This record gives sequence, C-alpha cells and structure tokens, in this order.
Amino acid sequence: MFADLKAHYEALKDRRIAATLDADRARNFAAQTGDLRLDYAKTQIDETALAMLIDLLDQTGVADKRAAMFEGRPINETEGRAVLHTALRNLDGGAVMVDGQDVMPEVLKTLDRMADFANAVRDGSYTGQGGAITDVVNIGIGGSDLGPKMGTLALAPYHDGPRCHFVSNVDPADIAQTLRALDPATTLVIVASKTFTTIETMTNARTAKAWMGESVSDTGAQFAALSTAADKTADFGIDPSRVFGFADWVGGRYSMWGPIGLSMMIAIGPDAFRAFLRGGQAMDRHFRSAPWRENLPALLAMVGLWHNQVCGHATRAVLPYDNNLSRLPAYLQQLEMESNGKGVSMDGVALPFDSGPVVWGEPGTNGQHAFYQLIHQGTRVIPCEFLVAARGHEDALHHQHQLLVANCLAQSEALMMGRTLDEAKAKVADKYAGAELDRQAAHRVFPGNRPSVTLTYPQLTPEMLGMLVALYEHRVFVEGAVLGINSYDQWGVELGKELATSLQPVVEGDKTAEGKDGSTAALVGFLQKHGL
Ligand code: F6P
Repeated sequence: MFADLKAHYEALKDRRIAATLDADRARNFAAQTGDLRLDYAKTQIDETALAMLIDLLDQTGVADKRAAMFEGRPINETEGRAVLHTALRNLDGGAVMVDGQDVMPEVLKTLDRMADFANAVRDGSYTGQGGAITDVVNIGIGGSDLGPKMGTLALAPYHDGPRCHFVSNVDPADIAQTLRALDPATTLVIVASKTFTTIETMTNARTAKAWMGESVSDTGAQFAALSTAADKTADFGIDPSRVFGFADWVGGRYSMWGPIGLSMMIAIGPDAFRAFLRGGQAMDRHFRSAPWRENLPALLAMVGLWHNQVCGHATRAVLPYDNNLSRLPAYLQQLEMESNGKGVSMDGVALPFDSGPVVWGEPGTNGQHAFYQLIHQGTRVIPCEFLVAARGHEDALHHQHQLLVANCLAQSEALMMGRTLDEAKAKVADKYAGAELDRQAAHRVFPGNRPSVTLTYPQLTPEMLGMLVALYEHRVFVEGAVLGINSYDQWGVELGKELATSLQPVVEGDKTAEGKDGSTAALVGFLQKHGL
C-alpha cells in the first residue's frame, strides 16, 4: 500500500527542506481551523506526496468510515460497539442515533447532573462530615486518569474549585502519599472506572474507603462513581445520586468529555467545562466538513503516516512549549498507542506494514536540556511535533513567555537547518587548526533536514484544549482507518492482566513458582529473599 509513497520518498529524501521553504510553501503546507494553525512546511512532504497521501485516504474509504463512526455504526467490530465519544460534546448538534434510539437526551441529562453536583461541591452546599470539600481525589487508571489529569493540569489557570488529586498506580506509594496530606472529613473520593472491575482502581478505592472510615461515619456519602456498571457501584456502597453513568460506546481513552471528566469539571467549573466541549465539537464539525487538504486531523494523520509507514521513523516526539501541557505526551501515549498499536487488520490478518509509532515527549524547554541532543545529532530521525501559544496566562511575565516561544521556533529551525562542517569549522577556527580543527568541528556538525510540525494557537483556553484533544482523537481515527485496523479495542492489555492474577498467589507466598519460566521463578525468589 505504501510502495509508491516509499519510492517517492527515496527520490526526494536528500533534498534540503530548507531550500524549498519559501513563503509559498509556508502558506501551502499549513492549515487552520478557528484559531488553531498547523504548520507542516518543515517536512519533506511535497505536492506529489500530499496528492498520493490524499489518494490513500480515498482508496481506503476514510470518508465512509468517518460517516460510519459519527452515525453510530458498530465500527469497534471486535467488541460489537459504536464509537461515539463525539456525542458527549454534541452540545447543540441534534440527534445521535444508536440502535434506532437518540442518545442525546441521556447525554445532556448526565451533563446537567454532573454540573449540579460540581456546583454543589464548589459552592459548599455538598459537604463532607467536616464541612465544605477542600480536596477531590480521582481514583482511576488509563483513560479514567490520564484525560482528566492532563486536562486539569492543562487548565490550571482556570482552576478555581477545590484541589484535585489523581491516584492511578496500584503501587501503595501513590495513594498513601496522596492521602497523607488530606483530611478525610473534607475529601471527596471519585472512583472513575468504566468497568468498575479494574484491579488497580478497585484496590485503591478500597484503601481510600478504609482511610475515610477511620474518621468519617458515613464513608459512602463522600464517594462518587463514574462508570457504566451501576450494579457494581451500588455494591461498593455509592448512592445512585452520586453515580454518573455512560454507555459502552465511550471508549476509556476517549472518555474525558463525559462523566470521567467530573474532577476536571469540579476544578474549573461547569461553564469552562462546557467551553472545553464546545472546542471538541468545533473540531468534529471541521473534521466532518473540511476537504482533506484543509482538514487538520487528516493532515496530521497524513504527516504521521508519511513519517512512520513511509519514511520508517518509528517514534515521534510530542514537545509542548506549554508547561501546563506536561501530561499531554502521556495522554497521547495511551490515545495513540493503545488505539493504533495493533498487529492485525480488521479482518484478523497480520499487517503487512508497521502499525502506529512510539509516541513520547516532555514539555519544552525542559526537554532541550535532556534528550534534544539525540534529536539533533543522534543517528535516528525523530519527527517532532511542537505546540506553542502566542500568550500564556502570566501577563506580568510575558517576557518569559516570549523566551519560551523563541526557544520553540528555534528548535524547529535548528532541526531543519542543521550546521555544515564548514560552518562548524568557522565556529572554532580561532581555537583549533589542521587535523584537530577537523576533529573538533565534526562534533559540532548538525545534519539538519529533520522534520517537524508546529501547532500554534493564541492561548490554551478550555475551548482550545477541546480542539486539540479532538484533533488528536480524529488523527488516530484517520491513521487507523488507513491502516485498516480497529483503533477502538485493546486486547493487547489482557495477557499481562491474566498473568498478574496468576502470579498474585505466587508473590504472596501461597503458591510456588513451579510451572513458571526460570527467569520469572528466579525473580520471585530474589524478591522473596529480600522481603516480598
Ligand atoms: O487496561 C486498559 C484499559 O482497559 C484502558 O483502555 C482503560 O482506559 C483502563 O484500562 C481503565 O479501565 P476502567 O475505566 O474500566 O477502569
């Protein structure tokens, strides 16, 4: 499927990107929707490559698949489910039908219930045994943690509700260190789990309940649940008035728009949360209507396919020059790698090409002083994705923001321009001569021609965050649709879960490691000898 594109890449890969980058290219290889602009001019993609990539979208039926998703057809075929997280932000978009029924009345009713509860927590009319809620602890993992945590951090400038904490890891250090600083009598615990069976979450929820029970008489009264499993939340002792449900057509890693976003809503307030939803809805409309050439999710996906499946760059760095987006790379790791890290196509046949890339990153400028060395001079090419706002939220420190922006733009420029041997020699010619000059200069050469894209926006508002998250969700959809995989299941997490269950009695000492492989048995032996 990628043969022609690969041949095209081979033909142009030594061309210097910088040599082609005039004002026309800058204009033609950029797109904008609302206030969000994508610049992909600093890549090797040319008009021919773009035409071929657009052709690929057409040949693989992406438009029909997109319609199937928005129309609520069961595109998550291995689980027989529709994929309709878009309904959660469909604030004024009319009916969304699943199995002949409009799901919007229930979605909007739940959103109103969440808003009422969030307001009550925020204004102190909902209290704990010790009075108004000062702290909210969201217990969840994967999509029931990463989305609300990333979003709450991202919107820190809008955070005017109680403090929010996020506990995800089954490592007792996580919950113990979080709860140690809190007063149970003024803490609300939100158990966020679509299935309400995830072992880490349920273990932490029980620990939190025991902690609460040490000083609060009605522990259940200070718990809320976000789940599709109403029977299980009732068994846990949470009153239905504080249970916020959603349907199975909301995948875990796509769920921050609905009840799973409750902690974020409590932090920033229902109005700001609705603005976040509006941003997502605006991106949905853009994705459904814009031609591929102007369609940001499709363009980002085409750049992704180009770099990964065509050029063979196995990883991609996400580099937000926006400290409040510090958890965006982690959030995207689940969104992209759990969605598109698959080995077979929809019909169960081994993929003849690579699936999704490894996604990683850290905010700038921190990353510059850590791993950018490898990005600039290492032997592997790592496509980079920069994000930067025109303005931060610290008006009095705008000069620092300007420094941040200068660094961001400088990095993409440096990656593209590089530094030749002659330029490097000129830099150190006053210190060295002859063979030593050659040797020293070689260390200072930057190959350049390293691709990057940049997303820019005026400010990271709730609405802009909504646009960005929806942009990435649809990018994953387009890449998955082209690759012909199911982006909405995650069978790859099952085996480890099963083996952890079978190893539990072994590590607890109730069973021997007999039957386990030699390495695993030896690891258990070592850990037991040292106090396991
Ligand atoms: O283990 C993977 C996973 O199923 C994710 O897809 C999901 O986001 C996470 O676990 C948590 O699941 P739950 O919300 O059901 O606790």
